[in-house]
Amino acid sequence: MKILFVCLGNICRSPAAEGIFNHLILEHGLEKLVSCDSAGIIGYHEGEGAYPKMKKIALRRGYELTSISRPVRSKRDFEEFDLIIGMDDQNIADLTRMAPDAKAKAKIRKMTDFCTNHTNRTVPDPYYGETKDYELVIDLLEDACEGLIKTITNYKNYELRIG
Ligand code: 4NP
Repeated sequence: MKILFVCLGNICRSPAAEGIFNHLILEHGLEKLVSCDSAGIIGYHEGEGAYPKMKKIALRRGYELTSISRPVRSKRDFEEFDLIIGMDDQNIADLTRMAPDAKAKAKIRKMTDFCTNHTNRTVPDPYYGETKDYELVIDLLEDACEGLIKTITNYKNYELRIG
């Protein structure tokens, strides 16, 4: 199972999602079954590491963000990944536009749909925000990543049951 997290610039929300999800993959011993990557709708920050403010606040919460920004590769990413998860409604609209066919469109999800403790409908863009906005991003991503792990492991058990 390969998961791609997508936000606008791939320097704040989706690298944080990748860092948090990788942490959970190891914690749950799923490294042979699940992997993830992240990408941006725009290529403006291509080659850059995560935004320093995001990196600092994530590290304070126990996550080291190491990914390097890259744009979504519309055909290849939609082939390579099983789920493509956007952070807000604009990401979803852009991904839907980029998806090459119906099978690709069916892989698109919104991150907050996996939250079980928060009712927020988006992971808001923190780029011009304050520390509390970055903290909210981490709160929402932790909730969604936990939910995503549960969804995947339930699906895996279901697959094993039906053989
Ligand atoms: P992200 O935040 O989508 O969470 O990575 C942003 C980073 C950069 C820009 C926008 C959003 N930007 O316009 O450069």
